[in-house]
Amino acid sequence: MSSGGRVRVEPSRLKEGLLSVPGDKSISQRSVMLASLASGESRIQSILRGGDVLSTLSACQALGASARWENDNLLVTGTSGMFRKPLNDLDMGNSGTGMRLMSGLLAGHAFTSTFTGDASLSKRPMTRILVPLELMGARLTMREDKYPPFTLHGGGLSAISYELPMASAQVKSCVLLAGLFADGDTSVVEPIRCRDHTENMFEALGLPLLREEGRSTISGSGGAALSVPAFDWKVPGDFSSAAFWLVAAAISDGVCISVSDVGLNSGRSGLLGVLERMGAEVTVSIDPASAPTEPYGTVSVTGRGLIATEVGADEVPNLIDELPLVAVLGACAEGETVIKGAAELRVKESDRIALMVTNLRAVGVDVEERPDGMVLRGSTEVQGGATVSSQGDHRMAMSMAILATRTNAAIEIEGTDCIATSYPTFWDDRQRVTVNA
Ligand code: S3P
Repeated sequence: MSSGGRVRVEPSRLKEGLLSVPGDKSISQRSVMLASLASGESRIQSILRGGDVLSTLSACQALGASARWENDNLLVTGTSGMFRKPLNDLDMGNSGTGMRLMSGLLAGHAFTSTFTGDASLSKRPMTRILVPLELMGARLTMREDKYPPFTLHGGGLSAISYELPMASAQVKSCVLLAGLFADGDTSVVEPIRCRDHTENMFEALGLPLLREEGRSTISGSGGAALSVPAFDWKVPGDFSSAAFWLVAAAISDGVCISVSDVGLNSGRSGLLGVLERMGAEVTVSIDPASAPTEPYGTVSVTGRGLIATEVGADEVPNLIDELPLVAVLGACAEGETVIKGAAELRVKESDRIALMVTNLRAVGVDVEERPDGMVLRGSTEVQGGATVSSQGDHRMAMSMAILATRTNAAIEIEGTDCIATSYPTFWDDRQRVTVNA
């Protein structure tokens, strides 16, 4: 993702509002992949039309799927259970999810494919997928043995039982998707439960998944084409996008912001517990029409003055993408907020620990970097008046824009184009809930 674009965010007052945010990025990407493997035409309603999803879609088209848009819905005609060899490299853009999950799928195909990505994705570790996929029988050749671009020789997979070395839904999903084509039953054991969209979709599509406490097992086809029915479902709003406004409300005393139709998978919504602990008023109403496994509904947060908290390893997987926002909360809270057990943040779209610390210090926040997190000594007054860089990381750019609703002086953010990766309408929504001072 380019680090282009620059926005000066003036201090602003927040006003009460009801928003609905674009579709969930994780669910949108998985939906594109499974629709591309299905037999017939699937309809993915309210899909996120963001950079990561479009990269995944292009890869699936290069593998034989076809697609057309119908307003906010994407109609995908699948490849009847088996992809065909791509003629060119698969460029996954900025998308770690796209690269890691598509690798799992293509590991099951008896052809060679090459994956590339943008500058940020090219620095992200891929050993975490190389290890299980090679145990299953695929062969991967990576730059410096660990980074993209890489070449994957798939086919002839054997089932494995794999205990995740880190709490990663991407690695879990990669192995389960490879397991779809393996010979036998592939199990993934997870130390801490993390988002389970892949498992929910497998179940919704009638794929042979067995779920037990901490373990999911998929029965593979032994390399034969899969039988995946076409589907028609709606993608809920992305909790990780809603989180920006929930935190904006929490740092603005007395202001209530609600977000409707937002996904509330328990592997995603850990921020709500943190907000409550820190003193914000949180209400959640689940839409009765939603499935118990993928609930969605309306969340409202009202700022009531914040107190510091501690977030540790057991909570991290369920709010992994919201940790930059937890740092924003900590910067505005009374007392010492500690984030620990979050070393995974160093291998996201940027090193989110180092960059958040640099950016928060630049705007006057007292923050100390730790190998696996940070310690923030918050204050009701945040200075601002500085230029910060997103380093092409969408969540960094948006988190700093949210903090700017509370600073004494403007924050200039370099690298705002990347926001389109996950939240193309971010600035429009910001306009809806702010009154410029
Ligand atoms: C994702 C899982 C998380 C998250 C990422 C999306 C997914 O990554 O940070 O934005 O769609 O499975 P890890 O599972 O590697 O932590």
